[in-house]
Amino acid sequence: MANQEEVFKKIVSHSKEYGFIYQSSEIYDGLSAVYDYGPYGVELKNNIKTYWWKSMVQMHENIVGIDTAIFMHPKTWKASGHVDAFNDPLIDNKDSKKRYRADVLIEDAVAKIEAKLEKEVEKAKARFGETFDEKLYRETNPRVVEYAQKASSILERMNTSMTSNDMEGLKNLIVELEIACPDSGSRNWTEVRQFNLMFNTQLGNIAGEEGKLYLRPETAQGIFVNFLNVQKTTRQKIPFGIAQIGKAFRNEIVARQFIFRMREFEQMEMQFFVKPGEEMKWYEYWKNERMRWHKAIGTPEAKLRFHNHENLAHYANAAVDIQFDFPFGFKELEGIHSRTNFDLTSHQELSGKKLQYFDSEDNENYVPYVVETSVGCDRMFLSVLSNSYVEETVPDAEGGDATRIVLKIHPTLAPIKCAVLPLVKNKPELVEKARQLFDLLKPNFLCQYDDKDAIGRRYRRQDAIGTPFCVTVDFETLEDQCVTIRDRDTLKQERISIAELSNYIQAKVNWNNVM
Ligand code: GAP
Repeated sequence: MANQEEVFKKIVSHSKEYGFIYQSSEIYDGLSAVYDYGPYGVELKNNIKTYWWKSMVQMHENIVGIDTAIFMHPKTWKASGHVDAFNDPLIDNKDSKKRYRADVLIEDAVAKIEAKLEKEVEKAKARFGETFDEKLYRETNPRVVEYAQKASSILERMNTSMTSNDMEGLKNLIVELEIACPDSGSRNWTEVRQFNLMFNTQLGNIAGEEGKLYLRPETAQGIFVNFLNVQKTTRQKIPFGIAQIGKAFRNEIVARQFIFRMREFEQMEMQFFVKPGEEMKWYEYWKNERMRWHKAIGTPEAKLRFHNHENLAHYANAAVDIQFDFPFGFKELEGIHSRTNFDLTSHQELSGKKLQYFDSEDNENYVPYVVETSVGCDRMFLSVLSNSYVEETVPDAEGGDATRIVLKIHPTLAPIKCAVLPLVKNKPELVEKARQLFDLLKPNFLCQYDDKDAIGRRYRRQDAIGTPFCVTVDFETLEDQCVTIRDRDTLKQERISIAELSNYIQAKVNWNNVM
């Protein structure tokens, strides 16, 4: 774990050093849990969004896109349940004045028990060597069994308190487990109380509660309130989906783990409207389809898993997360939710406007059921970055070995597709040829021209930002109209004619490769 923590720190500092992600307002010491995307970050993020949009909207005849406003009528959030139920249980430490999420404090205490359990297993593994039967040991060793039972009984009590809104139950757990403030070590806690996660602001021309506006905490509601507009204007028949990419805002209390949990973030959400009773069929379909999408960019199977929700949100009758093995462990990357007809029915009731679909085949009106897929763009970015960050020793272009940091991002998603490098910069004929080549490629691919420093250092710079191809223009190029193309991952160098170069790169970065 310590090793993984180190890797995570390196990824965070690499992101800043190479222009992927900066802390927001850094010159004022930053704003916690808010981040800015730099020149390479914005390219990678845009490519992730394009990948999602193409595979959802372009590849499905029955899914259309939409782009709705961040501000919505305040009643939207009453109907959706966010005003009453979008809360985190918070507790303050009276000595340090620090505020925490009660459930996170408890989960951290459970993680410590689980760490002790794993340590016991590791010790036994070292003691018994090859004859060690780990499964049997976990099931029978009294200390291990005791730790496992303790951890699961705490989690069970916590989940019961969370679902039944029992704040006293959470406080009792914190006291019983003797949880201390991570900052001060004090156990002097306030009561636990609910805290709404929506940011709000005020309309200029209406005073008081009437003019209170919320910054949307999810993009989904913009889709629900436009369900009939879209259905009528596109004449879609059920089952059909509406997709949206956009900003969402949550006043998160636990602001850690870099861009994993942000206060301002982006979601890529799709609501799929189905006939009542058919929702589980579509829920299974989208579970598999979304997992396929994550794997298609080369994320190994072992780093992805499904995790069923035990506590269902107020709107869902089934829910599953796709978790990714981040450097800090398996955590939610995407949610797939069977949202029933909760949202459309609530909006229908509060607005007084019908949100029904006329099914001409069955000659009946109904409020459709909804299966939602929702993936955070920033979390997706972090998963791509963590999966592609590699430190390795490779043969150096200058001879000998060199260590390099390379981002092995799928070529289709890579920020820069190709770097054009004249072998040396003090030969005008080479520079001119390389410039011509750069001009030839740039309408089709985001390329970089670089003639500073030795060729090996230029390769390292491109490796660090994940550029899949480096093209070197040398003296022979002037004679044979061929260049050397270097593959980022295999380091293989091939001679290829300039006339074939565009097609060669295109084949490797084509969207077809990931659809
Ligand atoms: N419309 C359903 C919905 O919003 P969610 O599980 O709360 O469901 C969906 O959020 C996805 O949005 C998550 O799986 C995660 O990828 C992303 N997400 C949620 N909160 C986030 C935060 N504070 N920072 C970054 N991404 C977040």
